[in-house]
Amino acid sequence: MKILVTGGLGFIGSHTVVELQNEGFDVVIIDDLSNSSAEVLEGITAITNKKPLFKKLDLKVKSEVQDFFNHHNDIAGVIHFAASKAVGESVNEPLMYYENNINTLVYVLQELTKLNKKNFIFSSSCTVYGQADELPITENAPVKPAESPYGNTKQIGEEIIRDTCKVNGDFNAIALRYFNPIGAHPSAEIGELPIGVPQNLVPFITQTGLGMRDQLSVFGGDYPTPDGTCIRDYIHVVDLAKAHVVALQRLLTGKNDSNFEFFNLGTGVGSSVLEAIHAFERVSNKSLKYEIVDRREGDIISAYAETSKANNILGWKTQLTLDDAMASAWKWEQKIRNK
Ligand code: UD1
Repeated sequence: MKILVTGGLGFIGSHTVVELQNEGFDVVIIDDLSNSSAEVLEGITAITNKKPLFKKLDLKVKSEVQDFFNHHNDIAGVIHFAASKAVGESVNEPLMYYENNINTLVYVLQELTKLNKKNFIFSSSCTVYGQADELPITENAPVKPAESPYGNTKQIGEEIIRDTCKVNGDFNAIALRYFNPIGAHPSAEIGELPIGVPQNLVPFITQTGLGMRDQLSVFGGDYPTPDGTCIRDYIHVVDLAKAHVVALQRLLTGKNDSNFEFFNLGTGVGSSVLEAIHAFERVSNKSLKYEIVDRREGDIISAYAETSKANNILGWKTQLTLDDAMASAWKWEQKIRNK
């Protein structure tokens, strides 16, 4: 069965392609390489012994999207990762974010509905909840006004899909709301490839561990949490990737309860920034130089998932720990820098 993965050479996309191929799916990847590299294909091939089909394509060009679907009319499902994801950049370049994340989604949905293609998985985020009033965060928590254009594109994206499902009764979609994806494939053949100075915690930790950065700034030590630092639900990217396969299979076998569903994907465990640092120190046998500095604007205090909906309905559960994730991120960082 042929599955299209947009953004399939990115961080979460590439790990999902591996899990899809492990389950026997034929994968076609579309990626514009704006924040990824064609070398990732080699990593995927090394792990799975199978090279996925790859087409470099810019989803912002509507005619190219139309051409693509006209030539690949045997696609059974789409997992749509292609999007920009840097929160700070989105604040400075909102229109670029709306074009990259919204126009492209609309073009893909237009082709899918036109061709009567039915199964669509959307890459959403726990950012839609903002600072939730109750923890852990259930799927019933209200969607809060977005803090950034990036966050807004995830909210609007879900709304666009919901509206599309309303008028296309046989179009099925699942939005997956990720908590904080981290780690790398245990083989260290694929992982996260941040361009420039990493904004996210784990790549900054591993680069500091390697000596590429002098020290880590811990953003805020006076939050109302047990150790004063922010709390997040760090989920291993391999666990996250597997959830996409399970969600896709749910649609392909018609097991979905309604034609638009959404699930939180997290571990259910909240870890503080200091706990994340200590996990890194444990698995690397290194002590990490860090300093507690001012809070980062826009950060929420605490977010971790209530996972029972995904556990019970999707039949999926995380299997890997924070230490597993840190160990894999560390192995990957060492490998790419020693090349
Ligand atoms: C961020 C985005 C979120 C997005 C997610 C994708 C923001 C405000 N939110 O989540 O919308 O979906 O990435 O991965 O950017 N930290 C430090 N020092 C650092 C970096 C981070 O202390 O150098 C802390 C942060 O304050 C936060 C935690 O580490 O408490 C995690 O930060 P990060 O990895 O950037 O993820 P989020 O901010 O949770």
